[in-house]
Order: sequence, then structure tokens, then C-alpha cells
Amino acid sequence: MVQQVQTPVYLDNHATTRVDPRVLSAMLPYFSEHYGNAGSTSHVFGWDADAAVEHARETIAAAIGASKRNLVFTSGATESNNLALRGATDRARRRGNHIVSVATEHKAVLDPLTRLGRRDFEVTLLAVEPNDGGRGGWLDPQRVRDAIRDDTMLVSVMLANNEIGVLQSLAEIAAEIRGSDILLHTDATQAIGKIAVDVERLGVDLMSFSAHKLYGPKGVGGLFVSRQKQAGRLQPQIDGGGQEGGVRSGTINVPGVVGFARAVELAEEERTVESQRVGGLRDRLFDALRERVADVQLNGPALSAELRLAGNLNCSFPLVDGEALMMSMREICVSSGSACTSANPEPSHVLRALGLSEDMTRASLRFGVGRFNTAAEIDFAADRVGDAVARLRKMSSLS
Ligand SMILES: Cc1ncc(COP(=O)(O)O)c(C=O)c1O
Repeated sequence: MVQQVQTPVYLDNHATTRVDPRVLSAMLPYFSEHYGNAGSTSHVFGWDADAAVEHARETIAAAIGASKRNLVFTSGATESNNLALRGATDRARRRGNHIVSVATEHKAVLDPLTRLGRRDFEVTLLAVEPNDGGRGGWLDPQRVRDAIRDDTMLVSVMLANNEIGVLQSLAEIAAEIRGSDILLHTDATQAIGKIAVDVERLGVDLMSFSAHKLYGPKGVGGLFVSRQKQAGRLQPQIDGGGQEGGVRSGTINVPGVVGFARAVELAEEERTVESQRVGGLRDRLFDALRERVADVQLNGPALSAELRLAGNLNCSFPLVDGEALMMSMREICVSSGSACTSANPEPSHVLRALGLSEDMTRASLRFGVGRFNTAAEIDFAADRVGDAVARLRKMSSLS
């Protein structure tokens, strides 16, 4: 029996996710009934809002193995990354001015680092494993050890990559710098709610994340700030009303924070079952694509739970332009390797760092399978991609 599929089919769950209806219903009263400012200390509207924010803080902190006093709410992971990197470097310069990070980081890390590099910081961007060999994009912790110098003050390595889903060995990287006063920051935006994340076990000092990647609302994020070393002494990047202990001024987005906490709670409750289901759908998609299209190349690490996010698939379709491919199948919503992480249509720096040629980078698509996808949608998508690749290849062979 052929199951009906509602189009367009959304397979771009690394870009953002649909707000879970259970999250939305938790948020709604904080728009309409409990609409107070959590900073209003003189009446019940303020007290209710503040209680909701503190409850949310406790829920999210517990899910990452932290204490609630170590969690700062922000507007999203971009802000969290900026606060972590700039805040730590503004305060702690006397430890040295060398920063170690990775070539495959998100622009929300790379761009602040570029700016720091224009000041008096020196940034070393580490290479990752090449695409062939099953570990494409993985950072060997040994590379971190080799890059550390006497003047290194910060290491920033993302936990899960937004394009190729590779999971980095953060605990081993932390072990490389244990005992020193070097700060370890991780951008865990794609990891929270998808894999188990515990700040103690990972050994990180600063961790950024965002609600809209885990079926929560857009415009809300978090930064874990440990009290160890100098991490707790971040230089605020936004001054004003002194909210969030003075580290991040601005009225707290109460409905957003409430939704964030509900999203984290649901993700934690359902993570094991969901990642198996989503991983199964991702594998089904890859198998179906390989059946329909000749020469599909997998980009990033092998499809194993230890190395890769369950919902991530990134493939190149040789002789086809990914952007043209996307445009020729409007019923399928994915991303291409030409315009992944920013408004800038440059070939993906992540795929280039894996050693892909510009052509193979441009021939790539990123699929992000998520909570609301079905097997019927996966089969439909594989059919559409197969048809579109065949059509484009035929056209290019005729031209
Ligand atoms: C790894 C990673 N870091 C940071 C961000 C930015 O997050 P936000 O949209 O919450 O600012 C994203 C989102 O694209 C991401 O995938």
C-alpha cells in the first residue's frame, strides 16, 4: 500500500526544527496569562515569570549535568558562542593569547575567532580526518595536544557538526588539557537532545546551545559557564539591566525559556527511542539513494552511532550541482553544500576541510532527518532525488 505524503517534505532538521506541539502548549500561557517580566520584583506577574524561568533553568541545567547557577540564557547559540569566546578572551588575556579551534566549526565560532585574530590573538585552526577512511571530519585529540603551547588560553571544539554530523571526542580532548588553566569551550548546538551530554563527563568549561534545534522555539539559547578556572569571569558583551547575574543583560524571553525547558525535557525522555528511529530512517534514506543513483558519495564519517548524529546524512552526487538539484525538487526541503551555514553561497568550508573538491562540494546535499519524519516521506524523498539527479545528469550529458 502506498502511503500518502504531504508535501513539501521537511528534511532540513539541522537548520531548524518544527516546534513540538507539546512545547508550544507549555509556552502559550506565558504569552497570554503569565506575561510578566521576570525582573519585576514587586508583583505577582513578575514572581510567576521569575518562578517559570528558574524552573526552566533547573530543568535544562539538570539535563546537562550542571547546577542551575551555571546556566546563562541567551538569544541562541550564535550569541552563546560570541559571549563564550569574546567574554573569555576579553577577561583572561594575561594567560596568553593563543586559541586553538577546528577548521570545521560553525561560522558562529569561526567568525568571532577571525575577529579576535585581527586583534592581538593568534588562532590555530586544526585539520580533521579526510573523507575517505570512515572518520571524515573527526578531530584526532592528538592534534589538540600537539597544538597546545605555553600561551594557549582557550580551546574551542564543537561536539556535533551541523553539516556532516561528526561527533568529536570531547572527553579525550579535555583530558589533553586537564590540569592546565586552558579553557575548553564546545558548541553543542547540534548535540543537545540528540546524544547524552554531561558537562562533567565531557570536562568542558563553556558550552553553547540553542532551543530551535531540538523542537523548541527560535531566539532562545543557553551558555553553560563552569565556576572552575576563570570561566565564570566572562566579560559581558551586552550591558544593561544586569539580568543573568550581569553576564547577559536584557529582559528574559519567558515563553521562550519555558519552551526551551519543555523541549529539553521531551528530548531527554525520548532520546534513546527517537535516535534509533531517526537513525533507522536516515539509513533507509541512504540505502534508497544508493539504489536509485549511481556513484553516490557519503560525506563525513561512517553511519555509526559513535561517530555521527543519527539524523544526519550528507552525500555528493557527482556531475550534478546541489543548488540546481534542490531547485529542481521543490517538494523536498534540504540544504546544499553551496549555502549551508550562512547567507554566503560559498562552497561549504566543512566539506572542503574534508578534502572534497569544489565540484564534489557543490554536488552535495545535506539531509537532516528529525522527529516528525516518516518512512513514507523518506521513500518519497529518495524517489524525487533519484529522478532529479537522473534528469540533471541527462541534461548535462546532452549539453
Ligand atoms: C553548530 C551550530 N552552532 C551555532 C548555530 C547558531 O545557532 P542559533 O541559530 O541559535 O544562533 C547553529 C545553527 O545553525 C549550529 O548548527
